[in-house]
Amino acid sequence: MNAMTAPADPPVAADPTILVQLTDLHIREPGRLAYRRVDTSRYFRALVDSVLALKQRADAVVISGDLTDFGRPAEYASLAAQIAPLEAAGLPVYLMPGNHDDRAEMRRSFPTHTYLGHRASTAAIQFAVDVGPLRLVAIDTCVPMQSAGALDAERLGWLETELDASRDRPVVIAMHHPPFQTLIGHMDKIGLLSGAAELEAIVARHRNVERVICGHLHRAIDVRFGGTIASTAPGPAHQVCLDLDPDAVSAWTLEPPAFRVHAWNPAERRLVTHLAASGSFEGPYPFYENGVLID
Ligand SMILES: [Fe+2]
Repeated sequence: MNAMTAPADPPVAADPTILVQLTDLHIREPGRLAYRRVDTSRYFRALVDSVLALKQRADAVVISGDLTDFGRPAEYASLAAQIAPLEAAGLPVYLMPGNHDDRAEMRRSFPTHTYLGHRASTAAIQFAVDVGPLRLVAIDTCVPMQSAGALDAERLGWLETELDASRDRPVVIAMHHPPFQTLIGHMDKIGLLSGAAELEAIVARHRNVERVICGHLHRAIDVRFGGTIASTAPGPAHQVCLDLDPDAVSAWTLEPPAFRVHAWNPAERRLVTHLAASGSFEGPYPFYENGVLID
């Protein structure tokens, strides 16, 4: 038996504020598989269970686009039923459009999600909400009927106004298409094809932007961007293959799924981002027994 004793407990810190980021659910109608192979709803149910099983209760959930595979009413109805356990647990769930979504169907299918804008609107879905001390600012990068994204002067102007109004608070910007090249060639071809440089200049003028969080890539990627960190998150089901050959074919894999846990630490005033696996696993097991490291 190793005689090493357990380390002293660290000083008690104030509770973090936890923003969970899910993305790229690609929900199909009940009984339909994505790409004829993936039961995205089964995977999403496991992800919801994993969020609800977090040791620290989340304060809000944001889903950064590609909620459904084809933007159909039956797909959104299925999604509404599947996020109900999160909402029943008291978690606000913020929905964002991706290139697989349909803004009008989103607004019709989620009438209680008033931040989506008026039911009859066809405008971009952009909103800013409070998550504890954090300000979550969601911008819409989608172009109807296109896989690639874009940010025009109007959407960027709205963002800058929101950021100017939140200079005294930590801000998280959420968007579907990442504003940087990922080196996964077939995804970069359908990335954010305009507005990325202008966005980076705006972010650089607002030092309180803690993160730019994105979807679309079905992988975890982190880059430096405008003086902050920009990242993407894995999906709950299929992931895009990690292949940096610019001519690599577009392909997916069933690597272990995961999600992002963005935790604001008020003691250090930093956003700490974890990658949390979806599913259930062996453990937890203790490192120590009676204060002694287990041999
Ligand atoms: Fe996607």
